[in-house]
Amino acid sequence: MISELVLKNRSYRRFYQDSAIDLDTLRELVNLARLSASGGNLQPLKYITSSDPQRNALIFPNLGWAGYLKDWPGPVEGERPSAYIIILKDTEIKSQATEYDCGIACQSMLLGATEKGLGGCIIITVQKEKLQEALKIPDRYEIRLVIALGKPKETVQIDSVGPDGDIKYWRDKQAVHHVPKRDLDDIIIG
Ligand SMILES: Cc1cc2nc3c(=O)[nH]c(=O)nc-3n(C[C@H](O)[C@H](O)[C@H](O)COP(=O)(O)O)c2cc1C
Repeated sequence: MISELVLKNRSYRRFYQDSAIDLDTLRELVNLARLSASGGNLQPLKYITSSDPQRNALIFPNLGWAGYLKDWPGPVEGERPSAYIIILKDTEIKSQATEYDCGIACQSMLLGATEKGLGGCIIITVQKEKLQEALKIPDRYEIRLVIALGKPKETVQIDSVGPDGDIKYWRDKQAVHHVPKRDLDDIIIG
């Protein structure tokens, strides 16, 4: 059911790092992005997949995790993602809709990952120049987003946004990650 998949598809940031994800699985996820909508059907997005610990180690230091959790620098060794999909814009394909395409591609891939019992997090806080250099990505391609993937090792709970209107996610003493979502009646305005 799509409603169950959407609900289960939370942003996960702690994983069982030893639980490997093979390249075929990553290819299946990119295939879901390939089959998704694209403005003008221009398909400007290209992808780099990584499931190898050495390559993963080149990617991880360039990612920014959970900006609202000021005291948490990101997942520790052992709880890091076991795979990544890097979304690139091919600058030789001109499109005004690249950012929309990126969002759609991310959601398709993450729903696919959820269906496979995996989880992930979209990451836009990326040290793009450093990552481009670390992976020797040609200038023709611009990094847009990174999807971190793995077998989730945390519980994420959706709450309602309280009367103070605070939308910041937070972690409780049991390390459950809480995500306030606005109520339906607050977002359907007419
Ligand atoms: C476009 C986009 C960029 C994001 N970038 C980051 C990021 O750089 N680092 C991070 O930890 N989470 C990032 N997230 C995850 C959001 O923080 C997350 O979606 C939000 O807290 C709601 O949680 P949920 O995905 O479980 O509903 C990003 C999400 C989106 C859609």
